[in-house]
Amino acid sequence: MLFTQGEIQRQVDELAGRLESSLADGEVPILVGLMRGSLVLMADLVRRLSSVHVDFLSLSRFSQSESGSGRARIEKDLEIDITGRRIIFVEDVVDTGLTLSYLTSSFEARNPKSIEVLALLDKRARRIIDIPIDFAGFEIGDEFVLGYGLDYAQLYRNVPFLFGVDDLDVLVRQPDAYFSFARELMRGGEEAQQAAK
Ligand code: IMP
Repeated sequence: MLFTQGEIQRQVDELAGRLESSLADGEVPILVGLMRGSLVLMADLVRRLSSVHVDFLSLSRFSQSESGSGRARIEKDLEIDITGRRIIFVEDVVDTGLTLSYLTSSFEARNPKSIEVLALLDKRARRIIDIPIDFAGFEIGDEFVLGYGLDYAQLYRNVPFLFGVDDLDVLVRQPDAYFSFARELMRGGEEAQQAAK
């Protein structure tokens, strides 16, 4: 157990508060969510802001052998025109920083007013590209994390707390291996989640 439901909600409160107080009078930022991990964070975040536009994009990642470059490609692009607008990328977790550095550089060509990053989790120790995070939540170590939108094989996104996986091999062999752990702590609520820390 890394962060309970209550702890995450308090962190999102704080991130939303900082973002809200950075807005100029009448300014409406565009929150850009990366599909699909940012879905839960995005839903919690936008309901705490007074005025916001929302859009999503999804990336497909190529392996080195497929693309020759190992780079990502935008698979589903934004629908809102971002020219002259304040853009905030909303990320569940920043790991190597490669995704955001690719997105930031390709979006700069579209002439937004500014591009910022909001991330709930920051795996700083694993960073390859030093991308600045303007609104950062929790810093975590080098571990694979599930819940609150983050998945393995599309599972666990619905879990309202965040937990680390100690043995990735277990998950690879049996993707639903952590189901009973997650279900029990979802039923037990905040008290059970605190006790599991
Ligand atoms: P980066 O390009 O290495 O910064 O990767 C960021 C993306 O990798 C995130 O948006 C997630 O989709 C994925 N990711 C990184 N770490 C984790 C994790 O611990 N659990 C689930 N997905 C992760």
